Amino acid sequence: MELTFIAIKPDGVQRGLISEIISRFERKGFKLVAIKIVVPSKDFAQKHYHDLKERPFFNRLCDSFSSGPVVAMVWEGEGVIKYGRKLIGVTDPQKSEPGTIRGDLAVRRNIIHGSDGPDSAKDEINLWFKPEELVT
Ligand code: GTP
Ligand code: MG
Repeated sequence: MELTFIAIKPDGVQRGLISEIISRFERKGFKLVAIKIVVPSKDFAQKHYHDLKERPFFNRLCDSFSSGPVVAMVWEGEGVIKYGRKLIGVTDPQKSEPGTIRGDLAVRRNIIHGSDGPDSAKDEINLWFKPEELVT
């Protein structure tokens, strides 16, 4: 079954949105197969976002991602990678549709991360979790 990596970012945790976000994935019918709370190091944040290392905002992005607790999760379900991104909304919360997590709950910082495809889902799950931490 398909798996994706979802993280509630420090701003989402700080704003008390953990249960709201988990609830949206659960209500859709996806299954939570791994979860932990961690404060990523800057080095780890750089690994997580390595695809963006040439972008001008990379340093700020990694500072922000390592600024506090992150809830790291693996969700399972048919089409969960693509549909998870749909639940999340587009990158800029001000452009995210109502009904999406970013559209309903965020204005500036976008509170949540989701893998953008099968390759990144696999890489991110491997970066964040050991195989035995997944209850599939
Ligand atoms: P993630 O789920 O966090 O990966 O977001 P995304 O997939 O919607 O966007 P992307 O992977 O392209 O960028 C990762 C993060 O970098 C985004 O969540 C934003 O926080 C930040 N980011 C992306 N594009 C820009 C930009 O043009 N300017 C700034 N300042 N930040 C950006
Ligand atoms: Mg992304």
